[in-house]
Amino acid sequence: MRTRLLPRVAFYDQHPEPADFFGEVIDGLRHRPRRIAPKFFYDEEGSRLFDAICETPEYYPTRIEKRLLAEHAQDIARLMGRGCLLVEPGSGSSEKVRLLLNALQPSGYLPLDISKDYLIAAATNLSTEYPWLEVHAACVDFTNPLDLPYCPHGTHRVAFFPGSSIGNFDPDDAVEFMRNIARMVGRDGGLLIGVDLKKPTDILERAYNDAQGITAAFNLNLLTRINRELGATFDVRHFAHRAFYDAEHGRIEMHLVSTVPQRVAIGRERFVFEKGESIHTENSYKYAVEEFHALAAKAGFAPMQVWTDAASLFSVHYLQVNTLRQ
Ligand code: AVI
Repeated sequence: MRTRLLPRVAFYDQHPEPADFFGEVIDGLRHRPRRIAPKFFYDEEGSRLFDAICETPEYYPTRIEKRLLAEHAQDIARLMGRGCLLVEPGSGSSEKVRLLLNALQPSGYLPLDISKDYLIAAATNLSTEYPWLEVHAACVDFTNPLDLPYCPHGTHRVAFFPGSSIGNFDPDDAVEFMRNIARMVGRDGGLLIGVDLKKPTDILERAYNDAQGITAAFNLNLLTRINRELGATFDVRHFAHRAFYDAEHGRIEMHLVSTVPQRVAIGRERFVFEKGESIHTENSYKYAVEEFHALAAKAGFAPMQVWTDAASLFSVHYLQVNTLRQ
């Protein structure tokens, strides 16, 4: 279904299936080790806390990625091709794309997001700021394979996936996700993607243990959300945030650790926590440039260009589809 919101903004609702929050939380807490998927962090308060994390001095990825995009916008535009059709899965507030639009002059911008109201608000704001831009916003679950709702014949398609969100997928799922992107952009299509780099453990661990305790509040907010939305009885004062770098897997792990022996009810379900027992809430994989190239190759992408900062903290890659695997 297509609705015109403004002369240059169209909205398509593909009615994505909402996640089964209750079912996934119960299954995850029964699983050993216990786990809850990071996609559930982002209620209103979680999204606000995530934005605040991005402002902390310790969390370098946002700051450095924005700087790389702004500094290299002209080079990026040359590679992506002015007039391309730009697709952004998980577009949120469409903030970072603003750093590219003037240089890139895309023929259309397609923000894809599961959160309908937020998507409509972001698309209308963007259109007011860039009145020349053709915006086609689609409410979809971008983690599933998808067909673009707007795609004039013959336009060069490029996807934009910033923020190192690819790091929150396990590597096999990251390959599957990038394969879906490759199918979506088609032969010779491109992908501009932000990827956090491997680096000394102390820098990584500080980024996930900021001094103001905002990352801790973000992690613990998951329990507050479960209490509110699922009627659970988590005592948030008796859980602690823990984040550490696991060098073997090349990832930051985040956990919520029970600081006392305790029982928690969720509806009719009961869970017993021993002191020290944890719920694994997030992985954030870090990749050396060559490791990420190898991962992208499995999804059918060839590396075209990579931009990094002088301290090699973060990378932005431009990749092009060279093999389409069905
Ligand atoms: C959204 N994602 C890329 C962030 C990350 O760094 O993995 C989420 C986050 N978790 C704690 N801090 C930030």
